[in-house]
Amino acid sequence: MNQRQAKERIEKLRQEIDRYRYQYHVLDQLEISEAALDSLKHELYLLEQQYPEYITPDSPTQRVAGKAIEGFRKIEHRERMLSLEDVFSFEEVEAWLERLRKLRPDASFDFYADPKMDGLAISLVYEDGALAYAVTRGDGRVGEDVTHNIRTIESIPLTLRAGSDQERSSFLRAYASACDVRITKPFLEQLRGRIEIRGEVYMTKKRLQTLNVILEKRGDALLANPRNAAAGSIRQLDPKIASERGLSFMAYGLYGDHGVQTVQARYTMMSLLGFPINTNGSYCKTIQDVKKVFDRVGVKRSSLPYWIDGVVVSVNDRVLGEALGVVGKTPRAAVAWKFPAEQGTTVVRDIQVSVGRTGALTPVASMDPVKLAGTTVTHATLHNEDEIERLGVKIGDTVIVEKAGDVIPKIVKVLPNLRTGKERAFVMPTHCPICSSPVLRREGEVATFCANPECFAQELARIRHFVAKPALDIRGLGERIVEQLIQEGLVHEEADLFALRPEDLSGLEGFAELSSQKLVKEIQKHTKPSLARFINALGIRHVGEETAVDFAKAFGSFDAFRHATRDELLNVEGVGDVMADAVTAFFADEKNASRVNRLLKYVQPDSAAPASKGPLSGTSWVFTGSLSSMSRDEAKALVRGLGADVSESVSKKTSFVVVGEDPGSKAQKASELGVEILDEQAFLRKIPKK
Ligand code: IVH
Repeated sequence: MNQRQAKERIEKLRQEIDRYRYQYHVLDQLEISEAALDSLKHELYLLEQQYPEYITPDSPTQRVAGKAIEGFRKIEHRERMLSLEDVFSFEEVEAWLERLRKLRPDASFDFYADPKMDGLAISLVYEDGALAYAVTRGDGRVGEDVTHNIRTIESIPLTLRAGSDQERSSFLRAYASACDVRITKPFLEQLRGRIEIRGEVYMTKKRLQTLNVILEKRGDALLANPRNAAAGSIRQLDPKIASERGLSFMAYGLYGDHGVQTVQARYTMMSLLGFPINTNGSYCKTIQDVKKVFDRVGVKRSSLPYWIDGVVVSVNDRVLGEALGVVGKTPRAAVAWKFPAEQGTTVVRDIQVSVGRTGALTPVASMDPVKLAGTTVTHATLHNEDEIERLGVKIGDTVIVEKAGDVIPKIVKVLPNLRTGKERAFVMPTHCPICSSPVLRREGEVATFCANPECFAQELARIRHFVAKPALDIRGLGERIVEQLIQEGLVHEEADLFALRPEDLSGLEGFAELSSQKLVKEIQKHTKPSLARFINALGIRHVGEETAVDFAKAFGSFDAFRHATRDELLNVEGVGDVMADAVTAFFADEKNASRVNRLLKYVQPDSAAPASKGPLSGTSWVFTGSLSSMSRDEAKALVRGLGADVSESVSKKTSFVVVGEDPGSKAQKASELGVEILDEQAFLRKIPKK
């Protein structure tokens, strides 16, 4: 992007963000997800860092949004209510610390990490121990007096808790080095003067659910999410409404001079004074400890009773923290480390067409890299022409992309306001981009197909699927080699692989005699695959790894499976009409049948059904996210070997969901259904020791 384009982009982003920020802060009604809005803001922030000359005071990065609502008294904050800079990866946290170290090379840093609650920031001011008033953030300097509503929240003390002598002295002992006893001690004893507590008002997941049931019965508008719910409830003029909403509060900040000099001690003191603090918050000696807290909280996230969207990392030493100062609207001494967004925004650079193993032409968008749910995404499937039309997506468009759980990223929305006029429409090719045969789109179908069954791309995709890890798992047959084998006419279908001789290969580019022998030997090692792997390897539409295991268990032999009637197929748990039809259609197709017959001349799938008795028999497992002690495939094989079932999706029948790092939405689903969630340690404990 050149400077002029950057300037244009910055201006467009500002307008778009402003529009959404108004929806979000004033109307409590956001058209797009918060993650998508964050992503736009992050892009603007990065562009402004690159071109600081274009930063203007009215840029969304420079101010806290929100207008005071008419009807509430305005109150000026004694200390500005700031917000936090977002970071999205450990590298960004490290970079933040690096910047602080440069500013203060002499200082040593330790931290406090606290879950970032998804709710509404509130400042509570106590005078001589009694709640005097409660104020929303507003624009950061002036907020609205919402004391009448805040008083209905039971977790907020109306008078500060004094605590016993013993509690006070053990606090002062524990934090002797973090407190100025001459100030802290008399304050705790007398609770005189002014103290300000800041924290988040939020609604629990359960409360939101029950409340929506009530609202629906009454015919009232439902609350979209807990943040909206909290914000909407606090901004009611009638405290009866706030009261029935059942809000909660979590404290995270203590202001005023009370002699307490670390964040950690302040949290403990707030708890002593009667405020709920997050029990998942923790002191961290090093930045690695911060990462541990972030990972641990991430695993717990879906099973927590409230919504969180990250972890706030603060420099523990408040004297140092204050000295580090404020840039714009954010303090240097803290950052919000957000959980990987499942939605983000990016720009579509091109739309290419790929040909799959069924011959379907799939348009795929290539995009500027965007981080979603922990991984960098550069491609999103657009499925077919109808989908492109439905989305209205053009090459050059800024789009919202989503990655839910382990599924392939998809484009969910186009942001037409960010268009420059240079966008181009996509046109489906009339000929296969691989073999140049004409393509066809049958009446009533959405997919366009390459009509040539010998199309190189189809052969390639079928063979690649056949040898891939969850199928026959033949090593040494990477994309380039399979391509070569097809191009040389040595391989057209699966059976051809087994007919290869070393001398066929040795003439190929990059193949010495030794490697030819090695590859042939490797292929020949796979003539007795398990029935499940063999079924999966055939590449029947809709039949994936897990279903193949179910079929293998149910039918026991390949013959029984290929001759199964539709009803017999439907009897297998988890198999519905679409899958049953796909299996019968596959074997009814003459070409497939002959492909399979030829293959069976070389390959005899193991007929024994996988072991079904073992210490984990009768349990059903789902895995999501990555584990550190083994791969997900190894973990699945491990529990299967112990007699358990493994499934791809969480249902009421699931016994356990094992949640690794960067889990998908399955963890959320599990907690909604009340299914037991195991982290890696708990999972390993369930595995009987040999
Ligand atoms: S510390 C300078 N800790 O996140 C503000 N904030 O953008 C320091 N929030 O407006 C805040 N949970 O409302 C802190 N554990 C937590 C938090 C938290 C939620 C909110 C807060 C603030 C926003 C930061």
